[in-house]
Amino acid sequence: MPYFSQSVQHIRSSEIRDLMKLATRPDVISFAGGMPNNDLFPVEEVDHIMQNMSADVKKTAFQYGPTAGYPPLIETLKKYLKTKGLPVDTHRLMITTGSLQAINILGMEFIDPGDLVLTENPSFIGGIAVFKAFQAKLKGIPLEADGLDLSVLQQIIKTEHPKMLYIIPNFHNPAGIIYSRQKRKALLDLLRGTNILLLEDDAYNELYYDDTIKEMTQPIMSLNTEGVEMVYTGSFSKILGPGFRLGWLLASPEIFEKAQIIKQGIDACSPNFTQVIANEFVSQGYLSTYLDKIRNAYKKRRNEMDKALKKYMPEEVLWHQPKGGFYYWIKLPQNVDSTAILKDSITNGAVFVTGKTFDPQGKQNNHLRLAFSNMKIEEIVPGVKIISEAIKSHMLAVK
Ligand SMILES: Cc1ncc(COP(=O)(O)O)c(C=O)c1O
Repeated sequence: MPYFSQSVQHIRSSEIRDLMKLATRPDVISFAGGMPNNDLFPVEEVDHIMQNMSADVKKTAFQYGPTAGYPPLIETLKKYLKTKGLPVDTHRLMITTGSLQAINILGMEFIDPGDLVLTENPSFIGGIAVFKAFQAKLKGIPLEADGLDLSVLQQIIKTEHPKMLYIIPNFHNPAGIIYSRQKRKALLDLLRGTNILLLEDDAYNELYYDDTIKEMTQPIMSLNTEGVEMVYTGSFSKILGPGFRLGWLLASPEIFEKAQIIKQGIDACSPNFTQVIANEFVSQGYLSTYLDKIRNAYKKRRNEMDKALKKYMPEEVLWHQPKGGFYYWIKLPQNVDSTAILKDSITNGAVFVTGKTFDPQGKQNNHLRLAFSNMKIEEIVPGVKIISEAIKSHMLAVK
């Protein structure tokens, strides 16, 4: 057997992954998957687009395309991103195979083994996995209700030399929070002149549930970023479908150039087939109607979760109500371990993801993530009830 590479030597199937295998019974209510709802996908709209597509465009769909992306989609996306104040004229836009590929490309472009990469704690498991694969040293910065704990960040910047900071300012996965405008600006002020690359992952930008929140979603990259090197990533996964495997990356020309060469070696180009459809979906104006529909549907689910949590959770259990996105991040009393809760919940028919999954160090385990996006809405109440019962009995046991 040849030796595994250093970067994969320590990869193991986790205890959680093994537990999750038990949760595949069809009667188990799942709050685990952070994915859109199957019944909400724009199947009819895409049917209509396909039926009305010219033969030439269909042929293009079967072909390889430019590494940076299908040119009409790049133009359509530029227009769309411009409405968010993003610097599409001075920066370059690349279509990637999901936004996870964008994070991967940036990992390859910037991380040497041992480099310090800062993330939020908690953070997106996919991002953590990428940084680990490039053998970064990871440090998580606590997340508050309005964004990163900037005093901790300031201290780290003073004493260490981080290479990159990875954040998810809108409807965080898993924490569900949104950064305040004040914190977005203060973060830029802190990073200005430090040479730390800021990676803004905006996968959930459009999933706000109230128009009052919409203005808070304005990307950090659309503010005054002078003196801060940053890259912005986004995705079609939550606004069209993850099966499209389409995301994007917006970066300075210098960063873009190397990113393009890296992508060439990974997959040459993202699927032209889905790029062609995504382009028609946005340019023919389907997106905004579709977004209204999914915001309404997810808001109903969020409200159902809210009612269920208030009714069944013991008062020692805490959470912030998410103003968008898919997740509740539930804080257990300090000495209650979320893996123990998961074991009981699975036995009784509900599943979620444990807190330590999202800790870059894989340790802190007194949280759980409940995704309310992809289950039957009528399962929310019974599912929350099962998890609440498990928490209550563990609280009694540790008293
Ligand atoms: C915060 C965040 N970023 C990126 C992604 C990756 O999305 P995709 O690769 O499907 O664009 C996800 C998926 O759940 C996510 O939650």
